[in-house]
Amino acid sequence: MIRLSDISYTYPQSKGPAVKNISLNIRENQFMAIMGKNGSGKSTLARLLNGLLLPDTGEVTVDGLSSLEANNLVEIRKRVGLLFPDPDSQLLSNLVEEEIAFGPENLGLNPDKIRKRVDTALKMVSMEDYAKYPPYLLSGGQKQKVGIASLLVMQPAYLVLDEPFSMLDPGSRKDLLTLLLAMRRELNITLVLITHSLEDAIQADQIVIMDQGEVIRIAYPREILEMGTRLASLGIEPLELSSFVEQLEREAGVSIAHDITEIESLVEAICHLS
Ligand SMILES: Nc1ncnc2c1ncn2[C@@H]1O[C@H](COP(=O)(O)OP(=O)(O)OP(=O)(O)O)[C@@H](O)[C@H]1O
Ligand SMILES: [Mg+2]
Repeated sequence: MIRLSDISYTYPQSKGPAVKNISLNIRENQFMAIMGKNGSGKSTLARLLNGLLLPDTGEVTVDGLSSLEANNLVEIRKRVGLLFPDPDSQLLSNLVEEEIAFGPENLGLNPDKIRKRVDTALKMVSMEDYAKYPPYLLSGGQKQKVGIASLLVMQPAYLVLDEPFSMLDPGSRKDLLTLLLAMRRELNITLVLITHSLEDAIQADQIVIMDQGEVIRIAYPREILEMGTRLASLGIEPLELSSFVEQLEREAGVSIAHDITEIESLVEAICHLS
């Protein structure tokens, strides 16, 4: 479990805290989504989870290891994989496969084992054809996939993904989230997903909403959906109508035109269902 006990953090030369008074438990094998406006403190929180930043007050422990103890940091970073939103900041090698092998090499694994792990990780993100590519030639979305593969190859207990899908097309996004959810079940990985997409977040066990550095709500997806349009004031875009239509079709077994973009038309379509 990752346990945050009343933590606050202020960046150097910054006037106010970026996160304040956060207490939160992230249990094993949980899928937790973190949402909130720009600047609400989500990325800062992510960096506090793997000891990249240390809290000014309070304490973060990962499986009982406090990030305030310098001796624990290597182990904490091994357990908690963190993906930054900007893929360029994380890709440093000449070839995709070298990039992904970097972490396992540092662990001192033997070359055969590394090869196997790298191939598996590339396959997981459907990037096996790009093993010999230089990362700088990849598209933004492909870089994000390589970034995710370089975390998966380390087999972390916790994956903290800071807007990992921002550059992915809808198909890839869906595929990757499905893959991450499957991995969570098979490998007991705990998933923390920072996202602006409610469609992704509603698949989580719990949704944490941040505002001005504070956690203002921890709720089940159902409760968040019930907030409807009030979500907009928290920087969360309510679900797109199209996904609602799809769900209706799936669950009610009805068929509705997919080009409906206005609520009035949808209501009309539902009223005319036979
Ligand atoms: N390196 C930094 N130095 C100083 N202040 C920072 C730094 N990074 C972030 N901040 C400030 O900390 C606050 C929280 O920023 P953070 O990046 O955690 O927000 P966020 O919720 O991730 O936003 P976004 O949705 O835009 O990614 C903001 O007020 C921001 O200006
Ligand atoms: Mg951020």
